[in-house]
Amino acid sequence: MNLQRSPSNGPVGIVAALRQEISDLLPLLSNARCVHIGSRDFWTGELDGRPVVVVLSRVGKVAAASTAVALITHFGVRAAVFAGVAGGLASEVSVGDVVVSAELLQHDVDASPLFPRWEIPLTGVARFPADARLAQTLRESADAVLADPHVLLGAEVMAAFGIRTPRVHSGLIISGDRFVCTSAESAALREALPDALAVEMEGAAVAQVCHEWGVPFAAIRTISDRADDAASVDFMQFIAQVDSRYSVAILRQWLSRPDAL
Ligand code: ADE
Repeated sequence: MNLQRSPSNGPVGIVAALRQEISDLLPLLSNARCVHIGSRDFWTGELDGRPVVVVLSRVGKVAAASTAVALITHFGVRAAVFAGVAGGLASEVSVGDVVVSAELLQHDVDASPLFPRWEIPLTGVARFPADARLAQTLRESADAVLADPHVLLGAEVMAAFGIRTPRVHSGLIISGDRFVCTSAESAALREALPDALAVEMEGAAVAQVCHEWGVPFAAIRTISDRADDAASVDFMQFIAQVDSRYSVAILRQWLSRPDAL
């Protein structure tokens, strides 16, 4: 049950797990101010005319959840978006693609037999739906940005990461406190959750907090790896050269839409 409504005039919360994922966004803020609470720097300001709060959550579900609580209770965000990277699970999801959440699930939650596997105990929910309007407008923004990836990345970077014609997908994103980097583990996740498109470490935790507070939420993830034995190769290079460029371009395109929220 939603406990509280988000204020419609509050800023938009933009969250990422790694510093490199927001470092290109911060210089674009006007009237930037840093507020330090709960061991994190929250950057308030305007991005393309919209009030935003940009924050580095750090990695993992607890870090992301505690950041989300601060965004909601201290900054009164009207909506939150998590941007970053994920490992591709579904066969059609390739490195360089973008996945927008339709639903989010915590794949490492299992209180069975007391509760069904993946259900967050005493909530009755396993799959947290993303806000439909956020997800749709983010998807359209990603479609627009990826229509010409050469402009954004350049031929050399695309060739270096084997990116040809990147696509945008919408569907289930799963989160857990593990970097999935063996083919055996990603195969097990695929078998258990055949409709999961991508795996990461924060999104579903923020989705749970936003659900509990009635704050619209969606996640947008660039696929950095296939969650297999090669998952950690070039990870930081990918974030610097592909993911941060995608994130900045997609978020700016999205924020400039009058119907984004
Ligand atoms: N984020 C990016 N790639 C990931 C992976 N393979 N597992 C978990 N989180 C990720």
